[in-house]
Amino acid sequence: MSNTIKLEVMRYRPGVDEKPWPQVFDIEWTQDMSILDALALVKDDFEPELAYRWSCRMEVCGSCGMVVNGEPKLACSTFVREYASVGKITVGALDQFPIEKDLI
Ligand code: FES
Repeated sequence: MSNTIKLEVMRYRPGVDEKPWPQVFDIEWTQDMSILDALALVKDDFEPELAYRWSCRMEVCGSCGMVVNGEPKLACSTFVREYASVGKITVGALDQFPIEKDLI
């Protein structure tokens, strides 16, 4: 099985974008990589302007809440490997709140 997966991140830049739009990244993943780790990789290697929240990385604070493939999840406790068979991960901001920027 390939260790590359498509990560589609919904982007929204206030004052620039009329509505959220998808940006797709091909990322190399490992067994212990969480969605939060994958977003950090995207921010470090591809898109430094990507905005998302996290704090504890321990499933406590809830600040990394986002929608992953249509379901609300904590990005720090959801792993890329869970979606390896699907081949694509879509990440967006939580539905119930106005979007400030990207995943926030
Ligand atoms: S970073 Fe705190 S719950 Fe995920």
